[in-house]
Amino acid sequence: MCSTLISSVPRILDGIAIAAQIKSELVERVNSARTRGHVPGLAVILVGEAPASQIYVRSKVKTCGELGIYSELHTPPATATTDELLELVASLNARDEIDGILIQLPLPKHVDTTRLLEAIAPQKDVDGFHPINAGRLLNGSPVEKVLAPCTPAGIMEVLHRSDIAVRGKRAVVIGRSNIVGKPLAVMLVNASATVTVCHSQTKDLEAITREADILIAAIGRPGFVTPEMVRSGATVIDVGINRIVTAEDLERFFPGDEARHASFAKRGSTLVGDVHPAAFAVSAAYTPVPGGVGALTIAMLMANTVKAAELRRG
Ligand code: GUN
Repeated sequence: MCSTLISSVPRILDGIAIAAQIKSELVERVNSARTRGHVPGLAVILVGEAPASQIYVRSKVKTCGELGIYSELHTPPATATTDELLELVASLNARDEIDGILIQLPLPKHVDTTRLLEAIAPQKDVDGFHPINAGRLLNGSPVEKVLAPCTPAGIMEVLHRSDIAVRGKRAVVIGRSNIVGKPLAVMLVNASATVTVCHSQTKDLEAITREADILIAAIGRPGFVTPEMVRSGATVIDVGINRIVTAEDLERFFPGDEARHASFAKRGSTLVGDVHPAAFAVSAAYTPVPGGVGALTIAMLMANTVKAAELRRG
């Protein structure tokens, strides 16, 4: 008798395809808003000229154009004061054609980030960082009614649209930032998962992560999650986007991966997430880097802009 060895290949959760689906649904909502006499509008504020922020912001503005959303980019110099920036936010709050205001982070050190984020009218806070929106999320407001932070909202979309059950599952979030880890933990609890948040001070991390049905890495450390930390058959969501530039790191993360080696040779760098690529093999499904969660963040910003326009106009 011959026995067959079945090896299961993990499913790749294609963030680019899911983002494209979300964006095509948004086009319909934008068109329908236009027929009601209003084009949703987003104002983006980029303070200074940090190259990484410039790339993100350009991409946000370009995506607005693709979906038919009005956008305007404000680029105060890095020397702008908190008061000057507060004035800009106040003027955008007052303009009816602006539905969403996004201040690209991080801001220069001398700027009071908290004061500025709290100055955005909560109904225009498309980043979902204002305490009113964070509080509404915490209180379990229905998702259609709350402006929630874009990256965690995108992760919830990936799980939902990939038919990965959340209710009653054990979710472990590595990272406790206000932008990703904390709001994501709240969203997972609201979706009836049992959630543990781990961070740099967590003891015996591996024992906790190995219990996860859904493991989310959002800690900003290249290849931090190793195969031993992943339970066989778990879903792994990799939020990290880390650029590696040394041949040593290339070999550490991508040994024998000819395609990566070729692209590294051409560009002098490549991206790795917070999950070591070898750890994906243990999972049942995972989001790749690039092409995973990153693609969702801008799609969800667009979704929040359209939602803000719809909510504000009843
Ligand atoms: N910088 C990095 N991520 C984000 C984000 O989600 N929103 C804003 N405004 N800035 C960021």
